[in-house]
Amino acid sequence: MAIWNLGSINADMVYSMPHLPAAGETLAARGLDRFLGGKGANMSVAATRAGSDVYHIGAVGPDGEWAVERLKEYGVGIGHIVQTDTPTGHAIIAVEPEGENQIILFPGANRALSLKQVEKALSMAKSGDILVMQNETSMQAEAAQLGRLKGLRVCYAAAPFDADAVQSVLPYLDFLILNEVEAQQLQQATGKEPGELGIKDVIITLGAKGARHINGETGAVSDVPALPVTPIDTTGAGDTFTGYVLSGLDLGLTVAEAMAQASRAGALMVTRHGTADVIPTLAELQAARF
Ligand code: RIB
Repeated sequence: MAIWNLGSINADMVYSMPHLPAAGETLAARGLDRFLGGKGANMSVAATRAGSDVYHIGAVGPDGEWAVERLKEYGVGIGHIVQTDTPTGHAIIAVEPEGENQIILFPGANRALSLKQVEKALSMAKSGDILVMQNETSMQAEAAQLGRLKGLRVCYAAAPFDADAVQSVLPYLDFLILNEVEAQQLQQATGKEPGELGIKDVIITLGAKGARHINGETGAVSDVPALPVTPIDTTGAGDTFTGYVLSGLDLGLTVAEAMAQASRAGALMVTRHGTADVIPTLAELQAARF
């Protein structure tokens, strides 16, 4: 099968900082690196490196040709990425020595995707394919609805979290992934526990405690532990985890197997500085000793 990813494409400017700047503080960076990023692009690269056929549905500006070329070089299908007049999205990312980050996002072309573009791309998708979205593009609810109508497995990574955005796609979802704090926020907004949302599979990432799967049909809950690593940069680790989980499901692994593999990918990713460009391959995961 294949994975269709309605996802953001950003230029990531990653600043190594002595600490995360406080309000009103001026702070010199110790270094600057540039990466391909965006939660969408990171997931597309992760799922491709995990072995899936991935088709990215996205948009860049006149300044974004390099990003499309790089996705192509990494094996991601780029036939449904359009060029708009709006500049390419970018992110200014501060990372402190223990790996925590702070991100300023300029959405740019990611919010200029049209319904026509999404319809055209999804007309090529086949029943049983996976459709994934995150909250960094336009057309999320429209794509989710279309995906459901076409018999796709509709997945949503609720990041950056916005309760209204999640609720607009909820009726169409087969799979939802979010973190612990976001799960609490969603519960406050909907009045329902994650397992009561009517979604078949919900994964809640728990940071250093691992990740939890809730089967929305049976109510069964199972946890996958995190692996012991010393983080240097947590940026993109969640996207890597999600891309690997979806690829695992696409390639026929059980949810538990997909989560175990994704947890290795996420662990390796936090030991690396950068985003899409440094996402580990399946071979690197297999060789890694934790
Ligand atoms: O999750 C990390 C990503 O968030 C970065 O690549 C940045 O572009 C933002 O989208």
